[in-house]
Amino acid sequence: MAKSKNIFFCQECGYESAKWLGQCPACKAWNTFVEEPTIGKGSTASGGIRYQAKASEPVLLSSVHSSDEKRRPTGISEFDRVLGGGIVPGSLVLVGGDPGIGKSTLLLQMSRCLSEQSCRTVYVSGEESLQQIRLRADRLGVFKNDLAMLCETNLDVIQETILKYKPEVVIIDSIQTMYREAISSGAGSVSQVREATSVLMQLAKRENIAIFIVGHVTKEGVVAGPRVLEHMVDTVLYFEGDRHASYRLLRAVKNRFGSTNEIGVFEMCSEGLTEVKNPSEFMLSGRPEGTAGSVVACAMEGTRPLMLEVQALVCQTNFQIPRRTAAGTDYNRVNLLLAVLEKRLGLKLAGCDAYINLAGGMRLNEPAIDLAIVAAVISSYRNAAVESDTMIFGEVGLTGEVRAVSQAEQRVREAEKLGFKVCCIPQSNMKYIRSNTGIRVIGIRNVKDLYDFICTGRVSE
Ligand code: TYD
Ligand code: MG
Repeated sequence: MAKSKNIFFCQECGYESAKWLGQCPACKAWNTFVEEPTIGKGSTASGGIRYQAKASEPVLLSSVHSSDEKRRPTGISEFDRVLGGGIVPGSLVLVGGDPGIGKSTLLLQMSRCLSEQSCRTVYVSGEESLQQIRLRADRLGVFKNDLAMLCETNLDVIQETILKYKPEVVIIDSIQTMYREAISSGAGSVSQVREATSVLMQLAKRENIAIFIVGHVTKEGVVAGPRVLEHMVDTVLYFEGDRHASYRLLRAVKNRFGSTNEIGVFEMCSEGLTEVKNPSEFMLSGRPEGTAGSVVACAMEGTRPLMLEVQALVCQTNFQIPRRTAAGTDYNRVNLLLAVLEKRLGLKLAGCDAYINLAGGMRLNEPAIDLAIVAAVISSYRNAAVESDTMIFGEVGLTGEVRAVSQAEQRVREAEKLGFKVCCIPQSNMKYIRSNTGIRVIGIRNVKDLYDFICTGRVSE
């Protein structure tokens, strides 16, 4: 029996301390310490499989095989995009997200695609019974090949089963339900989550199994349990979306094997998640046309342009201090842009409430949408609609100048593809746009140019 002692953990960052502290010395968070019994260092838990320590010797980098060519496609191309081109053998991937957002559905669909490629996959569920999973699987449609399921929460048993079954991919749903007997605190506690993750990491690396872990998200939007969880795994993906809207975004927050810019877009239907191949079209469907305060912008998500609608409502205030809200974008940035308009164009915004919204529950902080926010505010303030076939992007500086943004050509192409007729882009980006585009491109130097464009349809020389 391992010797146990009590240790205090910071729930935010996993900092350990022998006594309770009010403030964490590592992450400076207040009141985050919880007491948990833990096993002494160096002793492995009972029943756990101890790996023989091998003598380590340095090896030459050139003699190490790259595992990139061994990536296995998941069969869901939006998922592959976020992973950086498929599943890397031996990688540990954390999939976080709000309850009910569709994590289990996504991973079950992935398991189905993998089993169709005859990839040995085990789906371990600690949350649902086999019957419940069967019910979900029936909704998703036919499983051509069978899939191995395991309903278990004892990690030692899971480990043994995995070692015996030798799968290529394992899904653990969810890490908060897993426990090791050797640790006396309950499942989901900081020490259990940490221990479970480290066991799974060893398993992944030694046996070269790709393991997907589902993690629940707390109120603050971080994966429950200590931050160290995110440091331990190779890849952290967040599955997010508006509960009331049907689309879901899969976003990489950390990826040791690829870029973190890419997003995958899905739609939740009655028979599971379907991929959205053209997100711009999806985001723009159902937008109002010819209405003041609605402007189409183009942001870049990784290598892919994403068009979306920016809305603004500017109206007389009834308060001492005008109300400002920014849904889906940075509140301080919106205040800054309103101040620029007040100073550079003399708009009387101090007497107005201003509400900014990125339609469809999108969240973006890219400066390239500044110009569209400014356009939506001017449009609402002057009650002058921006034509619905016009797309606007650019970064706005403090003196009201419009600054160049990256990948302008690609954004213009996307607008052209979707049938837009006019693009307002930063003047300094104009030289990168080829003249043979089938779309009218207008260079904007400053917010005054944009104001003229919205009110008169032209930009003065
Ligand atoms: P689930 O994958 O259980 O969420 P998580 O594991 O992240 O908690 O998703 C459940 C939600 O998805 C549930 O509210 C119902 C919805 N859903 C559909 O709309 N269509 C479907 O085909 C399935 C399987 C689920
Ligand atoms: Mg679930």
